[in-house]
Amino acid sequence: MKPMVKEANEAAAYIRKQSGHRPAIGLVLGSGLGVLAQEVTIADVIPYGDIPHFPVSTVEGHAGQLVLGELEGQTVVAMQGRFHYYEGYGLDQVTFPIRVMKELGVETLIVTNAAGGIQVDFSAGDLMLIRDHINFMYDNPLMGPNAPKWGVRFPDMSEAYDPSYRQLARRVAEALDIPLQEGVYVGLTGPTYETPAEIRMFRKLGGDAVGMSTVPEVIAARHAGIRVLGLSCISNLAAGMLDQPLSHDEVMETAEQVKPRFIRLVKGIVKDIRSV
Ligand code: HPA
Repeated sequence: MKPMVKEANEAAAYIRKQSGHRPAIGLVLGSGLGVLAQEVTIADVIPYGDIPHFPVSTVEGHAGQLVLGELEGQTVVAMQGRFHYYEGYGLDQVTFPIRVMKELGVETLIVTNAAGGIQVDFSAGDLMLIRDHINFMYDNPLMGPNAPKWGVRFPDMSEAYDPSYRQLARRVAEALDIPLQEGVYVGLTGPTYETPAEIRMFRKLGGDAVGMSTVPEVIAARHAGIRVLGLSCISNLAAGMLDQPLSHDEVMETAEQVKPRFIRLVKGIVKDIRSV
């Protein structure tokens, strides 16, 4: 895998030409959660296809554009649509936007996703604060030559999801009366959903939710010293937990219902995250 330092620089230079906003906070908006970008004011919208070296998103429900502007008094850059490993991109491409955010000056990353609940106490529609992750993608975006400009060869991952940010998220959720679960996200390649046997295994291994994103982005962010907060929308209970098959439509429908709560929570977090 190539570190793509030069490419990230060129992409960042292009974005700085298109927008005067200088974001400190990056947002990655998952399946069905891209609407949050509509809350960004005085927005500059840049389609991924216009940005040098950017891959282009292929999945339904992912808009494929960067939105720079103001949210709750903070300057943000939001990815409306992300790149997934299962689409056939290498993890260098999946994490390219995070490297570009680093070059733009982002110091805080809020990653969101739709995920299947493994924990028996979870319900579809729950929001889960990510406490930690398990990389089950059999790959790592930092494979290959290291880019010392971004970070060290062997990055520490012991507090990948910033403890102060998690405390803030719990405080904001409580103040807004939004129930918030907390747990470990298991990152898988997809695109198949899991088998019931796999889900039983992941539960035994300490997983609380499963999904097909987020882990590579968080690894790239932590490598580059960006502090991370992660939120999962539990769009369904994982395979074998209910007597029904899983579908992408169900994932999108639940995300639709959760949207108002999700937006309130993320906005509340964005407002204060730079001060913790
Ligand atoms: N499994 C994997 N990824 C997912 C799921 C799931 O059940 N739901 C949403 N993304």
